[in-house]
Amino acid sequence: KQIKVFAPATVANVACGFDVLGFALNEPGDEVILQTTDSNEVTLSKITGDGGKLPLDVSKNTAAAVIKHYLAHIGSRQGIDIQLHKRMPLGSGLGSSAASAVAGLFAVNELLGSPLTRAELLPFAMEGERIASGAAHADNVAPALLGGFVLVRSYNPLDIVSIPFPKDLVATVVHPQIEIRTEDARSILKKSILLKDAIQQWGNIGGLIAGLIQGDYDLIKRSLQDVIIEPVRSLLIPNFDKVKQAALESGALGCSISGSGPSIFALSNSLAIAGEIASAMRKELKVIGIDCDVYISPI
Ligand code: HSE
Repeated sequence: KQIKVFAPATVANVACGFDVLGFALNEPGDEVILQTTDSNEVTLSKITGDGGKLPLDVSKNTAAAVIKHYLAHIGSRQGIDIQLHKRMPLGSGLGSSAASAVAGLFAVNELLGSPLTRAELLPFAMEGERIASGAAHADNVAPALLGGFVLVRSYNPLDIVSIPFPKDLVATVVHPQIEIRTEDARSILKKSILLKDAIQQWGNIGGLIAGLIQGDYDLIKRSLQDVIIEPVRSLLIPNFDKVKQAALESGALGCSISGSGPSIFALSNSLAIAGEIASAMRKELKVIGIDCDVYISPI
């Protein structure tokens, strides 16, 4: 038996929701082809689109490792061969490792007759994030698996909530051609924060969630601010302030770093505005000689 599964790129944090909020894009993403085999082994026969950067070693590859965990958990000795086709950039802040892990887990679960629900697949996908970046954060894997906006209300116990959102919402994402490792972008963060900053941040996250549910674009706009993480991480992204300003001046509801960067996302409520935002953001990167990929995706 064979199955082909696509899992999308995701924008984690969404400005104020570090490690607790994320949404899925339509594209790009990763494609995984699984084939059942007669051996009792998990094998990884092919990876494309990674520029030779990802390990073919089953214990080190995120998708393969999570499939092995999954099979051990459900007590299956089914042999599986994996082909992984990366259709998105690595180290981009768009949840590349999450897309691979989620596509692999969803595929193997389907092949075996769906013994686990999507929600039950999540802890395995989070284990993939631990392998990839040292931190089992869920704000990429949860939206990659469930779609739309997802809130990680709690990690222990794991409590995942899908958030309704207005149907016109569009994401513009630019990916400057530099690489930032999530592990590095996490290591530079302060371990404690000021109460006054925490107050602003949880006001904003509450406002953003309320704005999404109520379809209140003005409230979404007022809430898309990050006073804790962005000021630190933006230093890793050339011309970030100008790119953000250009997005806001072009009609973005808000603009911030996608996940751990270097990708930068902006939200708006029309495809036409999303295109204008993309041009304006790209221009500010071009000025300093940095090329970028651009993705425009309804959510
Ligand atoms: N919440 C994670 C971080 C997402 O910002 O480190 C990584 O893509």
